[in-house]
Amino acid sequence: MPSEKRLARRAVLDETGLERVRMMHPWIFRGNLRQVPQCAQGDLIAFTDRAGSIKGWGLWSESALSIRVLTYGTKEPDQMGLLRERLTSALNWRKTWYQGEEAFRWVHGEADGLPGIVADLYGDVLSLQISAAGWYRHIDKVADVFRKVRKLSAIVLRNETKHLEKEGIPKEVRALLGEIPKEPLKIKMGSIYELVDIEKGQKTGAYLDVKNIPDMISPLFKGARVLDCFSYQGHFGLHALAAGASEVVAVEQSQSAIEIAKKNLEINGLPKNMEWICGNAFDVMRKMDSDRERFDLVIMDPPPFSPAKGQVDSARRGYKELAIRGLNRIKDGGHLVFLSCSHAFTREMLLSVLNEASVDAGISCRIALEIHQPFDHPALSAVPETDYLKGFVMGVQS
Ligand SMILES: C[S@@+](CC[C@H](N)C(=O)[O-])C[C@H]1O[C@@H](n2cnc3c(N)ncnc32)[C@H](O)[C@@H]1O
Repeated sequence: MPSEKRLARRAVLDETGLERVRMMHPWIFRGNLRQVPQCAQGDLIAFTDRAGSIKGWGLWSESALSIRVLTYGTKEPDQMGLLRERLTSALNWRKTWYQGEEAFRWVHGEADGLPGIVADLYGDVLSLQISAAGWYRHIDKVADVFRKVRKLSAIVLRNETKHLEKEGIPKEVRALLGEIPKEPLKIKMGSIYELVDIEKGQKTGAYLDVKNIPDMISPLFKGARVLDCFSYQGHFGLHALAAGASEVVAVEQSQSAIEIAKKNLEINGLPKNMEWICGNAFDVMRKMDSDRERFDLVIMDPPPFSPAKGQVDSARRGYKELAIRGLNRIKDGGHLVFLSCSHAFTREMLLSVLNEASVDAGISCRIALEIHQPFDHPALSAVPETDYLKGFVMGVQS
């Protein structure tokens, strides 16, 4: 940065920063500032060109991601008014695509014009993550705006992600409205009911981004022996049983997730032909290799192996090993469903890994279906990393 001189509530961008703004990228990094503003973490600030012409407004952060853009243009926005407008618009977007869904992501950060906010709705309970100081400092007002836009019985702040420290935000789980539900909520997730623990469940309680995938692949379930790897609370395997699978083996390292999955089986009155293996999926797959187990359908939905660019090579190795082991367990004519939720791992990388795996396994595959993140997790065309969930359904040919 050429100068640390701070101008009141104005950041001056360099040419790269201005180009990012022109391309409607919602993040401006510290390295693209000619001058930093005189302001506190979380302040609403203007960003300008060298001549002082205002290009837009955003939330200031002392971290490397200095400005989260809220608006482009000269007029200073009213932050809470803008929040209300965008929450309404985000809800309308979901209403366009979803009818009668009980659980969905109401706000997906930048893609809804609200960087630093993720809000998942489970019935009337909102599970909220706030990762930008510019929102956190007004947390009570933010909760109030949510409540005014839609009827809610509770808002639970689930702030536990690792980057909060950089924003000066404490890690905490607390009710902002009503009370944290004492028992897991019974929520319709796709075609079945599932228990969602708003306080302790993974992410905001459940993996809403894969909620509708089982219904997309349901023709593969009837009569099938299914391996549901990285099963969490059994979402894929339970859907498979409901759609007529002959047997499901579910692999998951979290015992508490398996305990909820067992209850999910009961509340849906599903047949009990489900086996739970609590352990590391890589070890379980190696053991299945030696036992030569076979399935009609193998589902792999691992955690993100490369959230950032630096982990792409290790992610490639992890995905490839899983894909080879998965393919080796599939009967002729069966299918592999393989998902990646790694932001830095592109669709092309995943496709090339799956291709390498099929070559190494000596198993010919054809693509039956491509999977993408759902309507309530929209990606931004200006930010390729927001296009994070990808997957393929591969048919194994003899
Ligand atoms: C992306 S989530 C899967 C979501 C799940 N398919 C669903 O429909 O809700 C990844 C899951 O893998 C589990 N996990 C992470 N690493 C694991 C490992 N090495 N072996 C087994 N399970 C693992 C996590 O506890 C988490 O439940």
